[in-house]
Amino acid sequence: MSASTSDLRVLKVGICGYGTVGRGTHDLLVKNESTIARRLDCIHLTVTHVASRSLSGTVFGVGKWSTDPIEVVNDPEVDIVVEAIGGLGTAFEVVKKALSAKKNVVTANKALIATHGNELVNLASENGVRLLFESAVAGGIPILKCLREGLAANNINWLAGIINGTGNYILTEMGNRQRLFSEVLREAQALGYAEADPSFDVEGTDAAHKLAIMASIAFGMPLAFDKTYIEGISSLELDDIKYANELGYCIKHLGIARLSDQRVQMRVHPSLISSDELLASVDGVGNAVVVNADPIGSTLYSGPGAGAEATASAVVADLIDLARSPRSISQAHIVPSLGFSRLVTDFEILDIDKIESEYYLRINVEDHVGVMANITGLMEKFEISIDAVIQKEKSKNCVQIVILTQMCVEQVLNSVIAEIENLKSVRSSVVRIRVASFE
Ligand code: HSE
Repeated sequence: MSASTSDLRVLKVGICGYGTVGRGTHDLLVKNESTIARRLDCIHLTVTHVASRSLSGTVFGVGKWSTDPIEVVNDPEVDIVVEAIGGLGTAFEVVKKALSAKKNVVTANKALIATHGNELVNLASENGVRLLFESAVAGGIPILKCLREGLAANNINWLAGIINGTGNYILTEMGNRQRLFSEVLREAQALGYAEADPSFDVEGTDAAHKLAIMASIAFGMPLAFDKTYIEGISSLELDDIKYANELGYCIKHLGIARLSDQRVQMRVHPSLISSDELLASVDGVGNAVVVNADPIGSTLYSGPGAGAEATASAVVADLIDLARSPRSISQAHIVPSLGFSRLVTDFEILDIDKIESEYYLRINVEDHVGVMANITGLMEKFEISIDAVIQKEKSKNCVQIVILTQMCVEQVLNSVIAEIENLKSVRSSVVRIRVASFE
């Protein structure tokens, strides 16, 4: 049964920023209008005001167009503000103003949530409105909803994910087709996957924003982006991708968060993962997150992680959630933004040198008798066990020694690396990549 015209409630959406996310959201609301109408029945979502620095209102087919996003926030007709500007400065002001004006806000801005989320979540709660940001993490995969709601009965032990589409696209192309890093990055930018500042993708900042958001919701703690360890993919070499493959691994850029004994690890870095792992087959712009929880065990979520349609899918889902919420609702009856009504503020966040991992090492040495013995002797001195070794001829007098270690503490590994680098026959810095284990 459908609603009569008099029952119909129109929710007016204002979109601030009309780039990949803003335009994608508007397009999807139009494209899937009839399905959305059927899901909502007596509520109609419509875009009435758009702010963009450069385009004119006639292009959009919406009632109002402004160059200043604050005009959208101040528009008394706008019920929900979609922040699709990105970055911190203006976006932060827009979201603060909208929440203070008691307007619900949807944002895809992971940098904003990771950096200022604690303040914004409190501001939303003080004003009795909601701040939703499903699209900020893993594009079209509803991972935040899964962590907050679907897994709400579980203790989450760890999660690990490929959460930057651009980085995964670059690594896939480098690995499968030996293409140059810079060339693939340009392509990802043209396809609308990359951040405005692509160093956020390749240096790991974007993945760290997303990891900080997931960790906070998974473990019920305030956002702690500033304590996340970050390493990107820009210094990975084709040789390492090739040698890892020979050893039965591939290299992925992973975000890993783990809680055990009140201690939290949050780290983003290239990782070797066994080719048998499900994450190893996630290619291109795809994202995937494995969540390990008690009692359910491991669950895997995968899908498109970047691009206009994936992001818009999550933004529109948030709009639909808001449309379904009663007009006035007490905080006790809404799902908390960070998944828990009470957050734990005193988990210890581990420094990277305290973590334990297995490692891949590549050591570039002069090809002398005894070099291998010197290296393995140092490993023995620091009680680090070796799991596998291969030796590759690089040029006439030079070989690459590739070692996989067993589990050891990173600080100890760093000490042995420092001693290895001091050996006369070692030609350059040791390459070290962590090996991910999914125990
Ligand atoms: N630049 C991001 C990525 C976009 O490549 O994953 C989606 O957050």
